[in-house]
Amino acid sequence: MSQPVSSTRRRILLISDIHYASDLERARGDYETRTVSQPLLRYFLKMYRRLIWRRDPFAMNGLLDTFIDAESSADLCLGLGDYSCDSAFIGVADYAAFQSARLCLSQLRGQHGSRFVGIIGDHDLGKKSMFGGVGGMDLASYDRCLSELRLSSLFYRSLGRVHLIGMNSSLITLPSFEADCDPDQLSSWYALREAHLEDLQACIQKIPEGDRLLFFLHDPSALPFLSAFPWIRRCFSRLDGTWVGHLHAPCIFELSHYLSGMPVIDCMGTAVHKMSQALHARHLWKPFKVHLVPAPGGIERCPQGGYGELWVDPEGLQAPVYSIKSLTD
Ligand SMILES: [Fe+2]
Ligand SMILES: [Fe+2]
Repeated sequence: MSQPVSSTRRRILLISDIHYASDLERARGDYETRTVSQPLLRYFLKMYRRLIWRRDPFAMNGLLDTFIDAESSADLCLGLGDYSCDSAFIGVADYAAFQSARLCLSQLRGQHGSRFVGIIGDHDLGKKSMFGGVGGMDLASYDRCLSELRLSSLFYRSLGRVHLIGMNSSLITLPSFEADCDPDQLSSWYALREAHLEDLQACIQKIPEGDRLLFFLHDPSALPFLSAFPWIRRCFSRLDGTWVGHLHAPCIFELSHYLSGMPVIDCMGTAVHKMSQALHARHLWKPFKVHLVPAPGGIERCPQGGYGELWVDPEGLQAPVYSIKSLTD
């Protein structure tokens, strides 16, 4: 049944996991499997990338062009992170990945101007390679995200009686990302996390009690950590949805539902540990009313990707209406 349409509704575009590839990143070729020395693991990783995740991680630039051509007018365009391929695994501290993110963001800002706002994804900060253990979160990437790339760690926008809050999922999830951090940087990361949570709490507490909330973050693994805070749990009754990226395709989002509660796996490296820990606590996502913003091209196994279109009633009287728009039809 279609909902009555308010003429004052605001239209918000959501785009995530563009993983744009600059020439410098593309020149690296098969950057990931070469980090794995064990032949069987290397073969497994190659097959996983080829058959399930993404055969050519550098081949997604054209979908950003399609998005830019398709969408020129919206009240807001929100980027949910992962703007580069992170082929050195240290985020945008790597010059090649920085070039990718810069090119990606300049196109989005060229089309949407100040109506574009980008929050930060895990690959923007750096992430250990799967099985290779190379790289990790780098404070220089965090600084570069905020300064040169003008991304937001915390984003707040009021649309009348509906309040949009974007947050930094990597900082919130830090206790499970410790193995991704250089031990010398860990205390600085925790200080950033403390400050982020304080700012987030202060932001939420300023919002009038009866108003509606919408949350945006990159990685849903942060949700169980957020739900530990009473000031977040008090939001649930007026939270109309949480939009996340990171999972790249609706089929992965559905799979996460079926794997909810799985045991935490400690013996297969950082990536598997983090993934299994997130799925172990998957049931705690429920009160956040989570929606996925897929990668523009989805994944190899289920290429149903695209971007999100969100209609918001500024009076907060009608529930927001969300749909995924394909870029490949
Ligand atoms: Fe991603
Ligand atoms: Fe991600």
